[in-house]
Amino acid sequence: MTAHRKLVAGNWKMNGLQAALSEVRAMVEGAASIPGVDLAICPPATLVNAVKAELGSSAIGLGGQDCHAEKSGAYTGDISAEMLADAGAGYVIVGHSERRAGHAETDAVVAAKASAAYRAGLIPIICVGESLEQRDRGETLAVIAAQLAGSVPDQAADRTTVIAYEPIWAIGTGRTPTTAQVAEVHQAMVETLSSRFGGAAKGIRLLYGGSVKPENAHELMHVEGVDGALVGGASLMAADFLRIAAACA
Ligand code: PGA
Repeated sequence: MTAHRKLVAGNWKMNGLQAALSEVRAMVEGAASIPGVDLAICPPATLVNAVKAELGSSAIGLGGQDCHAEKSGAYTGDISAEMLADAGAGYVIVGHSERRAGHAETDAVVAAKASAAYRAGLIPIICVGESLEQRDRGETLAVIAAQLAGSVPDQAADRTTVIAYEPIWAIGTGRTPTTAQVAEVHQAMVETLSSRFGGAAKGIRLLYGGSVKPENAHELMHVEGVDGALVGGASLMAADFLRIAAACA
């Protein structure tokens, strides 16, 4: 398995007003002393422009949390991948379990959104993850394989792609899988992606997400096959986010 430079992406979800820009400023300052780790912030769409301005020439990346599959049109309330790129984003999260559950997004919808990201020149962060019921029934690896098959578009073979394994039961709960459980899923993802994309699968970074905190980051980020983290709650405060990043180094 190739060792990737790690990526720590912050998913702010529906959090963040203008006042949160001071945290971005602190992240920019702190990130300068954490070389060797890629960072990205995914604020709500209302802040993408303003965060871009705060980031200035910082190496910290910027992402949206969702995009529509179409470029433009009569889709009230939606935002296209092109709009995110135009606002300065380089990434977009697609298929987060909160969108799959709350907005009835199927694997096909997620794949279309990931394709839209490629079209707009964005790097998709495609999320997969099992529910607690599925884990208890022993279905985890089958669920993840099916989500990868349905949500990762064929273009992933020659485009930069990030995939985040986020067990639904670990998101926002303070519960995390054991390192053995994370390693098992990441190994299975590598095998699934390698059998579909061959050598090109090596270019795909595989993040872990779900209750990543400064306290558990070192352990989770050093599991074999984990190329970084998708961080929710702990990405809202610069101090926590930077401690997680430092744990990757
Ligand atoms: P959490 O969220 O870190 O707050 O558990 C992770 C995510 O939903 O991406």
